[in-house]
Amino acid sequence: MSASVSSPAPVPSPSGSRVAPPTSADLLHFVRRTAADADLVASLPLDPEGRTWVRLDGPGGSEAWLIGWPPGTGTGWHDHAESVGAFTTASGALKEHSLAARLPTDGWKTLELTEGIDRERQLPAGQGRAFGRNHVHEVFNESPTEHAVSVHAYYPPLPRIRRYSRTGDVLRLEHVERPEDWQ
Ligand SMILES: [Fe+2]
Repeated sequence: MSASVSSPAPVPSPSGSRVAPPTSADLLHFVRRTAADADLVASLPLDPEGRTWVRLDGPGGSEAWLIGWPPGTGTGWHDHAESVGAFTTASGALKEHSLAARLPTDGWKTLELTEGIDRERQLPAGQGRAFGRNHVHEVFNESPTEHAVSVHAYYPPLPRIRRYSRTGDVLRLEHVERPEDWQ
């Protein structure tokens, strides 16, 4: 994908200042537009054994990915620290479990969640969402037969992903991934 097609990169103004960084709404617009590019979506190599990724040029210096999800695969619980983001399903269907509470990114190893903060979203093709900082979620393809493809964008580019295990209402920090782990 060429940046000129899909990403309005920040252009220095005549005064030399830069335009505002992309908001989660900007990122949602980008992922929706990108997911509608059937040729791009079809270009993603699919692997029945595991997820596949292609890095994209996100708008305004954001980090963007096209991701393929074989049946039954998912992310596990994680957050994106201080980055905001958006994602949308391009083909197949995804489901998101998220927490309707903004959790502190640092300073804890286990947290007992209160009742009523779990959310579930069905994301069939063409459906997406934006999210703010410290968004804790898991995304998965629960289809037994059908691959899913999705488009994701984050700003600032992900400095880290915090991964959690969850047992009942208890969320436990398991490890922290840094860019060298996925680039
Ligand atoms: Fe995520």
